[in-house]
Amino acid sequence: MVQLKINGQPTNLDVAPDTPLLWAVREQLGLTGTKFGCGIAMCGACTVHVNGEPVRSCSTAVADVEGENVTTIEGIKNADGTLHAVQQAWVDHQVPQCGYCQSGQIMSAVALLRDTPNPTDADIDTAMSGNICRCGMYDRIRAAIKTAAQTSQVVGG
Ligand code: FES
Ligand code: FES
Repeated sequence: MVQLKINGQPTNLDVAPDTPLLWAVREQLGLTGTKFGCGIAMCGACTVHVNGEPVRSCSTAVADVEGENVTTIEGIKNADGTLHAVQQAWVDHQVPQCGYCQSGQIMSAVALLRDTPNPTDADIDTAMSGNICRCGMYDRIRAAIKTAAQTSQVVGG
């Protein structure tokens, strides 16, 4: 049994300690917003937050995050149920094409804006470099991050 918090909820996972966090999240908890892409920490599709930092859940054993706070794409909306500023900007810019990479992209963008509220293009490129989009939506991703940065400042966070 591995104990941790998922999206703020204390959770017991009845899995082997070396189970990838990705599979625990998807198959034990049914949180399928987090995607499996490469399985070898190369694409970023499986990105979640552990204590607020972006982590590749495909390559993170549940035992390594025991007792920690894990946040998935399902856990980032605002307390009142509205979309997070990054999610709303993604909608407004129609960022997703196939959509497969997008949960991971959004999780990386949320972490970027928390640490760097007003990112430059270089900041964005650096922070997002580990998230591959096979549909090539990088220009829209960058534009949406800038919109989210402005929106976050207007609404205070
Ligand atoms: S599925 Fe984890 S980095 Fe690609
Ligand atoms: S939207 Fe298709 S891989 Fe990124």
